[in-house]
Amino acid sequence: MTVRDIFESLDYGPAPESPAPALGWIAGHGGRFGHFIGGRFGAPGATFATRNPATGATLAEVTQGTPADIDAAVAAARRAAPGWARLGGPARARHLYALGRLVQKHARTLAVLESLDCGKPIRESRDIDIPLVARHFHYHAGLAQILATEAPGMVPWGVCGAVIPWNFPLLMLAWKVAPALAAGNTVVLKPAEWTPLSALFFAEMTREAGLPRGVLNIVTGDGETGAALVAAPVDKVAFTGSTEVGRAIRRATAGTGKALTLELGGKSPYIVFDDADHDSAIEGLVDAIWFNGGQVCCAGSRLIVQEGVAERFHTRLRARMDRLRVGDPLDKAIDMGAIVDPVQRDRIAAMVDGCTAAAPYRAACPIPAGSFYPPTLIAGLSPADPLMQEEIFGPVLVSTTFRTPAEAVEIANNTRYGLAASVWSENVNLALDIAPRLRAGVVWINATNLFDAAAGFGGVRDSGFGREGGREGLMEYLRPATHPAARPRRAAPVAPVPAPAGTPEVSDIDRTAKFWIGGKQVRPDGGTSRAVWSRGGRLLGHAGIGNRKDIRNAVEAARAAQPGWARLGAAGRAQVIHFLAENLSARAAEFAGRIRDLTGAGAPEAAAEVTAAIDSLFTWAAWADKHDGAAKPVPIRGIALAVNEPVGVMGILAPDAGPLLGLVALVAPAIAMGNACVIVPSRAYPLAATDLGQVIDTSDVPAGVVNIVTGPAPDLADTLARHLDVDAVWSFAGADVAATVERAAAGNLKRTWVCHGREPEWHTPGWQNPDPRPFLRAATEVKTIWIPWGE
Ligand code: NAI
Repeated sequence: MTVRDIFESLDYGPAPESPAPALGWIAGHGGRFGHFIGGRFGAPGATFATRNPATGATLAEVTQGTPADIDAAVAAARRAAPGWARLGGPARARHLYALGRLVQKHARTLAVLESLDCGKPIRESRDIDIPLVARHFHYHAGLAQILATEAPGMVPWGVCGAVIPWNFPLLMLAWKVAPALAAGNTVVLKPAEWTPLSALFFAEMTREAGLPRGVLNIVTGDGETGAALVAAPVDKVAFTGSTEVGRAIRRATAGTGKALTLELGGKSPYIVFDDADHDSAIEGLVDAIWFNGGQVCCAGSRLIVQEGVAERFHTRLRARMDRLRVGDPLDKAIDMGAIVDPVQRDRIAAMVDGCTAAAPYRAACPIPAGSFYPPTLIAGLSPADPLMQEEIFGPVLVSTTFRTPAEAVEIANNTRYGLAASVWSENVNLALDIAPRLRAGVVWINATNLFDAAAGFGGVRDSGFGREGGREGLMEYLRPATHPAARPRRAAPVAPVPAPAGTPEVSDIDRTAKFWIGGKQVRPDGGTSRAVWSRGGRLLGHAGIGNRKDIRNAVEAARAAQPGWARLGAAGRAQVIHFLAENLSARAAEFAGRIRDLTGAGAPEAAAEVTAAIDSLFTWAAWADKHDGAAKPVPIRGIALAVNEPVGVMGILAPDAGPLLGLVALVAPAIAMGNACVIVPSRAYPLAATDLGQVIDTSDVPAGVVNIVTGPAPDLADTLARHLDVDAVWSFAGADVAATVERAAAGNLKRTWVCHGREPEWHTPGWQNPDPRPFLRAATEVKTIWIPWGE
């Protein structure tokens, strides 16, 4: 090749990174690894091979973790937990900082190990994964240092079980381990079976950092090992991986009281408006879908391009694809490496080969033999096409067109996922108008795949729940010291007052306190009701017995009302809730009487409950416009906004005791944050809630924002938690309902907040002002909007 040729082709030769230090480390362990438990590596057990996907060569043998291994690791973490928590934030910060420094010190070896084990280009592991790992530990060292002022009254969960995937092996470890340790938890982590090596290297580094034994334990193995960890007596489970497994974990942990965060799959839209800077948008797309071979949960895998420019955009995109370089992951000059395993490559191929609706365009660049797959574009698919809906998790971009901004939003949201989205337009007004309308946890404007430890990351809908990174991520590893889990006392079951002896059960529909649905009084669909008696044997009225149909109608009303209620704005909602409080005050004596009749409470106790309920409404009216977002200091020229958005439609199962306060204490924060809700009041004392319906009706609360359906909580809870158009369920209705709610919620992976039958805080005598933060967090989703600036 002559110099002239080089100038003409602008081609460059291979620039391979040496695998020697990483392979040397493996050889130092004899090529075989046991688990890392209690601060040391055990002897290898039954092992399986972890391979270099680019060559197929075995890198090492790692041990298949058994339930006994998991038990040993959890026991070690349990032993270490009290000491680690007692150490305090500032002392833990030193350890975390040391870990960050060690990641920097071993950065080259770690980057090579990562690329060898999972096939990603060294450019990415060296410049993105490993620096972000170090950044994560340093950031969380800082959070540990200031924990006492950042999270007053919060304590660690205890032992966390973490299960992570193969696409960002060490980064996913950092995302789980750094916040968990900062908060004072200990951890048992199971890396993915295809990519365990960097986690084992990290385990060894914890010794160098002087981390106390048992604070971090690593057990290798496959999905069965992961399932054993989820089933083990851990206090919190943090999972990243496929939606299918996330759903199984939701079911497996239902009713156990374990905290759970799930970061799952995605099919993230990449919206290109006609006025976008096309060169940038195409380079962005290279990062969006060919970064890590598209094996990225938030990959911009669905191109949605404005019709007028679609053809030109596709032509330029195909030209760019042809110039991508696919090859040896250790070559510093390649764009795309190997697919993690031939099994995964075959899965991608089968999905693409199954497409009959359009012809895939495969990049004309050379593709090595083995576990490699060409960059691929499939244009012209209809939004309902399986490839537009299913996560391919490979270097395959699907594409469709839109005409108007409203249509772009509609197509973007036409997915069961909700992880991330990119919006490309030179009109920042348009982009900022679109961002809040996208159902996603992260939105990048004129950018893609930007991450930082200070910015929250996570999804909604089938992409899971919880955030990683930022203060919001740290909170997932803490619980209030007054959390129900801290209370050994189970709430005493509250049974309805039985009918006086000899009284026939009467069903007089005309005297039934009706449901409130869509701003109207509605009779129960089934036409049935039950008599409600006072402690003194007086018939107080009848409460309707709701069924599925009633719940479905209420959800429909809530869904219709929610966008308008959110649009009213925080200040408007504050006024409405204030008005509600005033109207309740005007009827305080009547409500106190009702509570006395229903529960048999003494006059002062009943009056105190009404006063507390009124106070709660005033307090939440105040909070409506105080739960600010944040502007995150991320390392870009620009800003990342953390915006607190309403969750959407919420199901609320009120506690049985405290028929007025228990309900108000939940509904008020929910609606203050812009949600609409469907409430199932106390089963024992439902009439206080139906009375409240009248107050709501006269308080300017728009129809459908609050809907009340009385009836058997377990059945109604199941219907609510199963309903695919409900975004979250809060259940304070008793232990029997908690498991039902969490299990049924797996359907659309809705968020849940349940008290597992333990006494919620507002039943404590003298309670007035609970810590608002758990309520605020449960009532909102943090959306991170990245806005770079500059020409
Ligand atoms: P996966 O969800 O099966 O594996 C992720 C982790 O969970 C691994 O550590 C695995 O051992 C563990 N695991 C598997 N079954 C488990 C169970 N029942 N209980 C507890 N842990 C369990 O993902 P997989 O099979 O590796 O990839 C399949 C598909 O999942 C991919 O094609 C992709 O579509 C998606 N995926 C999405 C990821 C994301 O970040 N959103 C990451 C990895 C995969």
